[in-house]
Amino acid sequence: MTAFRSLDDAAVNGKRVLLRVDLNVPMQDGKVADATRIEEIAPTITELAGKGGKVILLSHLNRPKAPNPKDSLKPVAAEVAKIVKRPVAFAEDCVGPKAETAVAKMKAGDILCLENTRFHPGEEKNDAAFAKQLAALGDIYVDDAFSAAHREHASIAGIVAVSKLPAYPGRAMKAELDALHRAFDRPEHPVAAIVGGAKISTKLDLLGHLLQKVETLIIGGGMANTFLAAQGVAIGKSLCETDLIPNARDILAKAKAMHRDIVLPVDAVVAQKLAEHVPTRVVAIHKVEANDMILDIGPRSIEHVVSVLARSKTLVWNGPFGAFEIEPFDNGTIEVAEAVAELTSAKKLVSFAGGGDTVAALNAASVMGRLTHVSTAGGAFLESLEGKTLPGVKVLLVAEPTPTAARK
Ligand code: 3PG
Ligand code: MG
Repeated sequence: MTAFRSLDDAAVNGKRVLLRVDLNVPMQDGKVADATRIEEIAPTITELAGKGGKVILLSHLNRPKAPNPKDSLKPVAAEVAKIVKRPVAFAEDCVGPKAETAVAKMKAGDILCLENTRFHPGEEKNDAAFAKQLAALGDIYVDDAFSAAHREHASIAGIVAVSKLPAYPGRAMKAELDALHRAFDRPEHPVAAIVGGAKISTKLDLLGHLLQKVETLIIGGGMANTFLAAQGVAIGKSLCETDLIPNARDILAKAKAMHRDIVLPVDAVVAQKLAEHVPTRVVAIHKVEANDMILDIGPRSIEHVVSVLARSKTLVWNGPFGAFEIEPFDNGTIEVAEAVAELTSAKKLVSFAGGGDTVAALNAASVMGRLTHVSTAGGAFLESLEGKTLPGVKVLLVAEPTPTAARK
């Protein structure tokens, strides 16, 4: 059996704590444009500094080819300082003399942010020598960057593999892992999943894995069109991945053999083109005309989805229903989101959602805080839903003592 170490047990006082965070935040004109990720990790930083740790922040920003001012973490470090309400020092390199000198100067409770790890090619190559240089800066490793845990990079995976640093999940990382565990390892049944978004091509593994885990799979967004086409429904000019129709058929057949329900739209909001406030019609799904584009689910589909959710105990949600970024095609997603929030508040549903578009849609519906857990991670959330153990999570696992060994 494997388990995670608990930060509760970490002796951090006076220790150099290498804290991997995801400071890969949207920037505009040299300033942080959205601080959500910083707010999520702030409690871990404050806790470690409060316990007397020398907190050394490690992160990447963007995908730089070489060191350059545009991808510097310096302005992000200033934003971290504002949010944690403590000074945050900055070192202009994440390894070598600049980093070593800055770390050597730290006192208990200090916070230091190192420069972008991706300024070194060894980061993305998971290079052992580079990982060792990073590891040499600390006594303890804490990873609070769930959203980057799908990357097998030096500051995420190699650093633990090449060193003897004890590795702990940070508070935000642990919350993500607990939510995934609750959704997949011991969920209350029946479980429903909503998978939306434009394309099946990026979600084939996800759909396959979810079929084994859920009673009902609700399919929304552009990808529902490919499933409808696979059933012989005329979908007009709607987005469709024609080459993936056989895959959609295969998933429908598997679901049938496994006695899983697949829920597809029964009606749709259609328009002649995708633009703000164009004339729209609501049509039954078999009445889509040759010039129509399906851009959202209709009222009967919303009702159907909500009735499925009302009978479910657990929901996993990734991807919006319609072309939600363009009004009024956000309506289906917003109405379902409101129903999910209400069922969750009434303790009838445990709800997990995640992925970039999903978070944007839940924000638009103003329900973010009302779901059981919302993951702001994109790729890492999706890969976890596909049943993969992420490289950044794998290195945090330690063998649990057997009950006999524990008694000794
Ligand atoms: C993210 O923003 O998704 C993570 O920080 C990973 O970034 P990457 O996609 O550039 O590896
Ligand atoms: Mg990304």
